Amino acid sequence: MKKERIVVAYSGGLDTSVIVKWLQETRNAEIVTVTGDLGQKKELTGVKEKAIATGAKKAYVLDLQKEFVEQYLWPTLKAGALYEHTYPMATSIGRPLLAKALVDVARKEGCTAVAHGCTGKGNDQVRFEVAIAALAPDLKVIAPLREWEFRSREEEIAYCEKHGIPVSATKKNPYSIDENLWGTSIECGVLEDPMVEPPLDAYQRTVSPAEAPDTPTYVTIDFRQGTPVAVNGKKLDVVALIQKLNEIGGANAIGRLDLVENRLVGIKSREIYEAPGATILHFAHRELERLTLDKETMHYKAKMANDYADMIYNGLWFTPLREAMDAFIDETQKTVTGTVKVKLYKGTLEIAGRTSPHSLYDLKLATYTDEDTFDHGASAGFITIYGLPAKTFYRVNTTNGRKKTSAAKK
Ligand code: ARG
Repeated sequence: MKKERIVVAYSGGLDTSVIVKWLQETRNAEIVTVTGDLGQKKELTGVKEKAIATGAKKAYVLDLQKEFVEQYLWPTLKAGALYEHTYPMATSIGRPLLAKALVDVARKEGCTAVAHGCTGKGNDQVRFEVAIAALAPDLKVIAPLREWEFRSREEEIAYCEKHGIPVSATKKNPYSIDENLWGTSIECGVLEDPMVEPPLDAYQRTVSPAEAPDTPTYVTIDFRQGTPVAVNGKKLDVVALIQKLNEIGGANAIGRLDLVENRLVGIKSREIYEAPGATILHFAHRELERLTLDKETMHYKAKMANDYADMIYNGLWFTPLREAMDAFIDETQKTVTGTVKVKLYKGTLEIAGRTSPHSLYDLKLATYTDEDTFDHGASAGFITIYGLPAKTFYRVNTTNGRKKTSAAKK
């Protein structure tokens, strides 16, 4: 009988290494691993060899960076999506792309199931599984961490030793870290106490404000239709552009976040994040929109930004609603073209200037000098009618500024 073939989302770490062997053993399956390069700094050289040494039949290491930026990060940026008004969602937005890569390989390799190394109490299991269900409803999903017998890291290491799986000798990091081009997520260890200030060693890619330069750094970013295209006047490819801003931001202590957040599975968790490039880009993009979007669109879009962030965070990327939101957002971005100058200084961001060919800022209307063309007289009639509903309500329901009893009591 033909063996079952399973695709495993493989990072090369302890859990996913154990998964490769465990699935072979418990299901007598053939394993194909997939490792996605989303711009994590961790070396991916050797991952393929390690997967094969662990027993995989075939191992894919895929460079997904460009697709990540163009199809996932730019929509997120254009939407202004920050979960709970704060987190740029580096981890969350990487999951649908990894799920898509897993499905693609599963198809190519004739696999009937996909396995991932997410725990049973996090958001990532939901993101993977909902995305896979949407893209390939026939594929089975296996989540070994929800069902296997290992209760600790030590037990997993013992299993590796028993089966000759290479376990890297490096000391266990005190934190659980997930990183990619858009940012780093850091949790566990002492960070589990929300009253504990993150120790210096918790941060991976930013200096502290105290270590940052004593003079400000200026950065200009050019946007075309909501998408960043150049930094300091230099056109860069999409991956290099974010790398560049990560570098400049990281050196100026930009993008550190410490967040108690609401997980989809009902838990409140505390995590710290570093997203220097994403923080600069969200800031600059928002400033450009202030200049180029009309008031109603800007206010409406801000409400949608929260919903869009929830969709990403809650694993609803591959959904008709998200696609429809993208259509709306892209329409709003047609005039979001221009240049923003940002000042970085010891962890802070300030707007230092903005300009756009689509700027709605009209000096002739705004000025207090004699160049003024605004029709002051028109305000009087406007205010009379604008205030009429409030005036009518209080005329009917108050006497000498006090609520009438019938209106106050009922
Ligand atoms: N809380 C974040 C999210 O759900 C990150 C989760 C992964 N964090 C980690 N340190 N491994 O998007």
